[in-house]
Amino acid sequence: PEKVYILAIESSCDDTSAAVLCNDTTLSNVVATQKIHEEYGGVVPELASRAHQQNIVPVVHSALTKANIDKKDLSAIAFTRGPGLMGSLLVGTSFAKSLSMGLNVPLIEVNHMQAHILSHFINDPDQGKPDFPFIAMTISGGHTQIVLVKDHFDMEILGETLDDAVGEAFDKSAKILGLPYPGGPLVDKYAQSGNPKAFPFPKPKVTGCNFSFSGLKTSILYFVQKNTTTNPDFLNENRDDICASIQHTIVGILMDKLRIAVKETGIKRVAIGGGVSANSGIRKALKEAETTDGWETFIPKFEYCTDNAAMIGIVGYLKYKQEQYTGYDISAQARYSL
Ligand code: KG4
Ligand code: ZN
Repeated sequence: PEKVYILAIESSCDDTSAAVLCNDTTLSNVVATQKIHEEYGGVVPELASRAHQQNIVPVVHSALTKANIDKKDLSAIAFTRGPGLMGSLLVGTSFAKSLSMGLNVPLIEVNHMQAHILSHFINDPDQGKPDFPFIAMTISGGHTQIVLVKDHFDMEILGETLDDAVGEAFDKSAKILGLPYPGGPLVDKYAQSGNPKAFPFPKPKVTGCNFSFSGLKTSILYFVQKNTTTNPDFLNENRDDICASIQHTIVGILMDKLRIAVKETGIKRVAIGGGVSANSGIRKALKEAETTDGWETFIPKFEYCTDNAAMIGIVGYLKYKQEQYTGYDISAQARYSL
């Protein structure tokens, strides 16, 4: 069988990443995470695009070196066209176009949201691939979406967030508790030693598979303000219980929506992706649902959950096989539906 070498580039948000795949196998997956945003408590678009501009050549070079592949052996260049921050996307898009032109190999545009879902198809001896159809939930700092996946390129959005992404809900809650950005992993850490039922927070009243997290953020803010007025040490004394309660609420919301999706479609194969998939609460709840609800669940390796170019590469490979190439008149798209 033919060996296809794809160089993939991802630059949609604040991570500059390049990967080389041989067919569906990752040879390298290099990610340069931009530290600069931490001091601002969130991603600053202008700084992100500048950092991509600085990182892109070293990151691509490193991906090729680690894969031990010469540029002239590449079969195609895949890149993230959107959705994402326009200034960030432009760096990867322009770079990919130029490289494709220079090497005279096909250019392949990739939808970032599709890539999160198709990351399950990267060859991994430790993990099975979901059969079609399956339910995919993408949860990260930028996205919260439940999708019915009928085939590689046949997907239907069942629901998405109407306001904040779930990772944002974690990060903004953490900020209210005085934790540094991004606070999601810290909430998870402190939640381990807390009581998840200590403080009940209300769940949003959004029907179907859609999400809303802005109300939760507000109720946590009021809750903290009210309690610190009467007891200035409230946060210190109750940090673990508050984190466990927040996590319990958010995981409850995610599981409620997955159960609705499973009920609506009758499909019990559930796959998750995105940075929030690292959360121990959602992982545990999914494992439990295998026993209680008879689900088959899939969580990719962590390096394929957060933004990375290997997931762009797998889509590149799948499109290459179908000769789904892209013309040089293509432009980046900040908003880009599945
Ligand atoms: O996929 P990702 O690296 O970047 C994008 O947003 O696309 O996801 C980052 C998000 C952040 O909001 C971070 O707080 C959250 O994922 N996150 C977590 C955990 N690890 C990362 N949230 C809760 N628990 C975790 N263990
Ligand atoms: Zn993402």
